[in-house]
Amino acid sequence: MHGATAELFETNSDPPSARQLFCKGAVLLRGFALSREREVLRAVGGVIRAAPLRRMITPGGLRMSVAMSNCGNLGWISDRLGYRYSPDDPQSGKPWPAMPKVFAQLARDAAASAGFADFAPDACLINRYEPGAKLSLHQDRDERDFSQPIVSVSLGLPATFLFGGLVRNDRQLRVPLFHGDVVVWGGPARMRYHGVLPLKDGTHPLLGACRINLTFRKAA
Ligand code: SIN
Ligand code: FE2
Repeated sequence: MHGATAELFETNSDPPSARQLFCKGAVLLRGFALSREREVLRAVGGVIRAAPLRRMITPGGLRMSVAMSNCGNLGWISDRLGYRYSPDDPQSGKPWPAMPKVFAQLARDAAASAGFADFAPDACLINRYEPGAKLSLHQDRDERDFSQPIVSVSLGLPATFLFGGLVRNDRQLRVPLFHGDVVVWGGPARMRYHGVLPLKDGTHPLLGACRINLTFRKAA
């Protein structure tokens, strides 16, 4: 099984907000964010002006290919000391920018649509992928309460999301994600390994040569 992959959902020709359950606890909401794209992109711009995107260092000393920033009460950071959430941006020493209302509402609505009522994230990680950037297979395990789902919003260039099992070597689904798609995973899928394949070259009409992902979590 190791290394085998399944090719699924190879187009985004589904109607906006088509709901696809790709394993128990994981839902793809095709185009769910499209109707709010302008407000969301404006808010992304505001956050990254206040807390610029930067490529963090892993505990092992490597520089990540994905550039990151955060908003909300807590932000995910990585450095030589490890992975963790911090109330402050280590680059400025100031609190992360507040979570824009349009972000919190989008995350809440997407979670509800996937069956997770009353999701109130306190952390939003902003990831920027340029062509070639990738995110290695990992579990999200720095949060306190694993009963809370994760909401992931894709903007800009398409990417291939890898969605694996509870063990690193389990086979992975390859889920193509397009601008405006939202993935929600929680419950029995909360601890599944996931990652993003290296971004392919391209130009998105609104975002140019990049993909932005917003990951909403309840960290504390
Ligand atoms: C993450 O796993 O934290 C983000 C995934 C993505 O960028 O799509
Ligand atoms: Fe993750």
